[in-house]
Amino acid sequence: MGTKLIIDTDPGVDDAFAIALAALSEDVDLLAVTTVYGNVALADTTRNAQRLLALCKRDDVPVAAGASRPLVHPQAHRASRIHGPDGLSGRSDILPEPARELVSGGAVALLASVLEAADEPVTIAPIGPLTNIAALLAAHPGIGEKIARVVIMGGALAHGNTTAAAEFNIWSDPEAAQRVLAGGEVHCVLVPLDLTHRCAIDAAWLAQLAASGPIGAALDALTPDYRAHYRTVLGYDGMMVHDAVAVAEAIRPGILRTEAVPVQVECSYGPARGATLADLRSPGQRAGDAHPEAVLTDVAVDTELAELQTFLLERLTGTPR
Ligand code: RIB
Ligand code: CA
Repeated sequence: MGTKLIIDTDPGVDDAFAIALAALSEDVDLLAVTTVYGNVALADTTRNAQRLLALCKRDDVPVAAGASRPLVHPQAHRASRIHGPDGLSGRSDILPEPARELVSGGAVALLASVLEAADEPVTIAPIGPLTNIAALLAAHPGIGEKIARVVIMGGALAHGNTTAAAEFNIWSDPEAAQRVLAGGEVHCVLVPLDLTHRCAIDAAWLAQLAASGPIGAALDALTPDYRAHYRTVLGYDGMMVHDAVAVAEAIRPGILRTEAVPVQVECSYGPARGATLADLRSPGQRAGDAHPEAVLTDVAVDTELAELQTFLLERLTGTPR
C-alpha cells in the first residue's frame, strides 16, 4: 500500500477536490479526515467532509470534528463569499447523506489514536487553519515520531490573499502555524500561494472532469460560486485548486520541487499578522545570524504544471490521460 494519510480540512471547494483526490487514489491509505473551522463554520465543514467521502463511496474513512475557532485570538472571518454560504457554492445538498456517524471525542483524539495505531509514520495534509495540528502537538508530546511529514497548503512568500501579507489558512491561526512550522517537532512541507496561484485549472479541464462520471459531475457542480470568484481573479473561466496541489505532493512526493529554508510566522497584531517569512538567504549568509533558525521547512517553489494537472485529472476521473 502507498501513502498512509490523514487530511485535516475546512471544505471548501478546493478542499473537496483534495479530499476526492485522496479518496479515489488506490495507492493512498486514507486513515482519517478531521475537520476545522475556516472557509465556513465547523458544522458546515464537518458535514461537507462527511458527504464528500460518501460521494466517493469511502464510508470506511472515519471523520472527527476539531476546532471551531483559533487557539488564542478569535478570527470570525469566513470565506463564504468565495466558497458559497455552505462552503460548496450552496449546493452541498446534491451530495449523498453520510453513511456513518462522526467519531466522538474530537479531531485531536482521532489524530492521536490513528497515529499511535499506525505501523509506519503517517503523512498529515492540513489544508485549512492549523489549529488542530498545533493542539495535537501540544497535547501529545512525542507524537511527532509517528508523523512522516506534514504537507500544508498555506502561506505566501510574496503577498497574501486575505491580507496584503497573509494567506487565509495561516492568517486564521498564526500562533498555531508558528508552533507547527517552527516548533521543530515535525517535518513540514509548505505549499504557498506563490505556487498554487500558478496551478489553476481551466474550463476545459473541468469539462473533462464533469464528463467522466457521477463523481466528477458532482465535483464540478460544487464549483459555481468559487469559479465565479476566480474568473475575476484569473481573467478567464478557471479556478484555483490550492488544496489539491498540496495533497498531490502528500501522495506523490516530489511532484512539487521544494527548497529547505527557515520559515517564521508573524504573530503580532499588526498589518503583517499571519505573514510567513521564509529566509531565502544562503546557509552561509544565515550562519552569521545572532539566532540562526535551526528548523527548516521544505517550501514548494515549482512544479511541472502540465504533469500536475494531468495527474489530478487522472486520479479524479480514474482514467489515465
Ligand atoms: O488560501 C487558500 C486556502 O484557504 C485553501 O485551503 C482554501 O480552501 C482556504 O481554506
Ligand atoms: Ca482549505
